[in-house]
Amino acid sequence: MGSTMLVRSKRDWEMQECDATPEASYLDRRRLLASMGFVGLSGLFPAGAARAADRDPNADKYPAPRNTTFTLDRPLTSEEDATTFNNFYEFGSHKRIWRAAQQLRIRPWSIVIDGLVEQERTVDADALIARMPLEERLYRFRCVEAWAMAVPWTGFPMKALVDFARPLGSAKYVRMETFLDPERASGQRQFWYPWPYVEGLTMAEATHNLTLMVTGLYGKPLPPQNGAPIRLIAPWKYGFKSVKSIVRFTFTDTRPVSFWETIQGSEYGFWANVNPDVPHPRWSQATERMLGTEERRPTQLYNGYGDQVAPLYRDLQDEPLYM
Ligand code: MTE
Repeated sequence: MGSTMLVRSKRDWEMQECDATPEASYLDRRRLLASMGFVGLSGLFPAGAARAADRDPNADKYPAPRNTTFTLDRPLTSEEDATTFNNFYEFGSHKRIWRAAQQLRIRPWSIVIDGLVEQERTVDADALIARMPLEERLYRFRCVEAWAMAVPWTGFPMKALVDFARPLGSAKYVRMETFLDPERASGQRQFWYPWPYVEGLTMAEATHNLTLMVTGLYGKPLPPQNGAPIRLIAPWKYGFKSVKSIVRFTFTDTRPVSFWETIQGSEYGFWANVNPDVPHPRWSQATERMLGTEERRPTQLYNGYGDQVAPLYRDLQDEPLYM
């Protein structure tokens, strides 16, 4: 995001250069196997995505039934735009990380549920997803950088995950953490970032009907660059709240301090609710640019979900709700 312009250096470029080697050698190995008749040509590209989908025990759950309660006021963003223009700093501090993100190994994937819960436990992501009620929802998505999209997510209400986790009454927040694997995620070799990526929600936010644990996109399992195997989507908040590739849910009575808050607390806060009238310290939030079409639209308060979420903040008016 914008603030990282301050800390970007030659190292970004060096890391991208490193990325090329493992992917190239992987492709060479696939080509060799293909020439020996071990893999079909369709397995050649995109590297990783096909391989991951091959072994997904939940693959037959996609496309999931659409929940028509959630409608859009704009055309869907193209799948290509939503899956090739991403923020995923673990794989680089620029938008074209989708190839590098194929390095991510999403199977097996363990998720720890700990902190203020009846019993701490570790669950396999596929097993967890298998028992959850998957549905498709069309949501608006608004990045703090003022680009936006409209996409069909597949997932399940985070409330179902909270019920599964059985938090104690003393839990006030859920802290979520992304994987840590500097060998595969070259961005995590940039030691000046406070890895792993962390985000948090209040219990009221986490159990709100709009809050989704996302496992799919465009009727298919989520690709690595969009946060496979499981990510958060809280559509009324700036996109940085929607943490990707989660490995830990910690229930706590202490407000979590997020990745971006640690880097630049004066620009990225805990609440981060979308508001056209509260500018980012370095740019306006009055309008947004739709990915792909470049259409400019007026930003909506709570990204257009105010009728559903404004009550969450009624007693919090002294908090910096919009940064
Ligand atoms: N999660 C992790 N782990 N790492 C990230 O860099 N970027 C955030 C969010 N979640 C990010 C993350 C930001 S700034 C945005 S705008 C969205 O992911 C982008 O999601 P998308 O690539 O699916 O559009």
